[in-house]
Amino acid sequence: HSLKPFNTLAVDVRAESFCTVTSVDELKNALKQTTSNELLVLGGGSNIVLTSDVAGLVIHNCIGGVEVLEQGPQQVVIKVGAGENWDGLVETCVQQGWYGLENLSWIPGSVGAAPIQNIGAYGVELKDCLEAVETLRLKDLSPQQFSCKECRFGYRDSVFKQEEKGRHVITAVVLRLNKTPTLKLDYGEIRNSADEWGYDVDQLTAADVRHIIIRIRTEKLPDPALAPNVGSFFKNPVVPVAVFQTIKMAEPSVVAYELPNGQVKLAAGWLIDRLGWKGKRLGQARVHDRQALVLVNEGQSSADLLTLAAKIQQQVLDRFGVELEIEPSII
Ligand code: EPU
Repeated sequence: HSLKPFNTLAVDVRAESFCTVTSVDELKNALKQTTSNELLVLGGGSNIVLTSDVAGLVIHNCIGGVEVLEQGPQQVVIKVGAGENWDGLVETCVQQGWYGLENLSWIPGSVGAAPIQNIGAYGVELKDCLEAVETLRLKDLSPQQFSCKECRFGYRDSVFKQEEKGRHVITAVVLRLNKTPTLKLDYGEIRNSADEWGYDVDQLTAADVRHIIIRIRTEKLPDPALAPNVGSFFKNPVVPVAVFQTIKMAEPSVVAYELPNGQVKLAAGWLIDRLGWKGKRLGQARVHDRQALVLVNEGQSSADLLTLAAKIQQQVLDRFGVELEIEPSII
């Protein structure tokens, strides 16, 4: 079974066996029946790099549904099936007047994948609205619930990438949303773009914010259907202030954000761009010409892409003394 349609890098590898599940019961049955020890669960396939044929079972998680669990005058708590499309959910919420997710508009992928890397954009992270994550534990197929705190969210990080990695299938995500919008416009680009595109910045609605972000993203990030990619290929590296100051001395225009813990987050895209990689090609892989943090795959395999990534990592290390960590999961 080819996995090409199920990963946004369009890598053409095969799964030994493959099935789609649309409910927790179907998921349980598939896991009960498999004789293989190897398991890969796919959501939207927008944050993975497949490197070879996958032994064992691949499950396409299509568990759907949006259910209101609690509704008060101020807030609503909803439970969303892991297989729902993330951006479809954001759209539904904005339409319903349930606010908090609008800055996370137009992020590809599924709802169930969102907590694994704590998706984030334009000053908001999933953890800001997340109440709990429901899973099926592989060991005994028992349902489990992780509170927001238990998920141990960090920047593009969670317990599901650390201690609990490979031990659960996420079945649903519980979100707490506001019925009155509290718009987050502080991420530099939002106000500027809104102003430039003729919005009255003091009168923005959540729907406006969604449209502005969709426009920013579509102008900068390639559509995976046309140029296969997984969004940012590297995390923005977090370094001690001293490292940042050394870089700043040599490169006064370096883009960075100070963090509350005294460290500094560097814009990896800027570092890569500064080394002249934007638009460059290596075999069947290339660096996107409008955002150097995005690598585009034009081949059937991911080999060139990973060679390109390694070259970029080496040059960034040689030139700036900074290690770039790959953001998607390599499988
Ligand atoms: N920059 C350059 N050249 C480039 C790319 C970026 O100079 O080629 C500079 C920009 O001018 C800007 C700075 O670097 O001053 C940061 O760029 P941008 O605002 O585009 O954001 P980013 O740091 O590249 C991060 C997330 C994105 C998220 C955006 C918006 C990571 C790894 N990436 O990108 O998330 O959408 O901020 O919040 O944290 C993803 O995770 O896949 C992703 C796309």
